[in-house]
Amino acid sequence: MTDVDELRDIVDWQNGLVAPAVHFDEDLYRIEADRVFNRAWLVVGHEDMVRKPGDYVTNYMGEVPVIVVRDAGGQIRVLVNRCSHRGNQVCLFDRGNVKGFTCSYHGWSYGLDGALTGAPMEQMLYRGELDKSAWGLEEVAKVANFKGLLLASFDPAAPALEEWLGEDVRWWLENFVLAGPLGGLEALPGWHRYRSPGNWKLISENFIGDDYHVF
Ligand code: FES
Repeated sequence: MTDVDELRDIVDWQNGLVAPAVHFDEDLYRIEADRVFNRAWLVVGHEDMVRKPGDYVTNYMGEVPVIVVRDAGGQIRVLVNRCSHRGNQVCLFDRGNVKGFTCSYHGWSYGLDGALTGAPMEQMLYRGELDKSAWGLEEVAKVANFKGLLLASFDPAAPALEEWLGEDVRWWLENFVLAGPLGGLEALPGWHRYRSPGNWKLISENFIGDDYHVF
């Protein structure tokens, strides 16, 4: 199922109906992974989680593991959690404060900005020819802070966040989710983590107001 018309057929927006494929079709999920998670702005954290230089949290953008980190200069970056050498995850923890990241596989090390800073036995193995500037961690193209909420997009051509959200969603986020009129939100340490062996939309729907359950 890759044709746009086929996608339109399974969502009857005029009558408020969707086909079961929306929640269960593997091909459709793969299309979403490309067209939604690889392009859209996605929430990756809150600035309270990374207050100090070296603070980081790990998260996922779609199926891609990422590190949200405040670098030494205070800039919040989102780095793909995948070593440039053989693809191992360079950060194996949920959150913490570090001076850099060292891969547990062969020991390549990276700065808070994702730059490759060292490789064990560099002179012997690479004869001084390793161009470290070309082997840093991949950095997610766009990062934005919307009143404390951190969002990122893999798409370098993505529109500015506020434009992408649009006026209505901006209002809803600011006034309802982030409780702006009440003084805003503070993110406290700790996690509430949900694992669900189902389609991502089932979880999303439940968190935005599916109260239609049998107790
Ligand atoms: S995979 Fe990270 S150093 Fe080899």
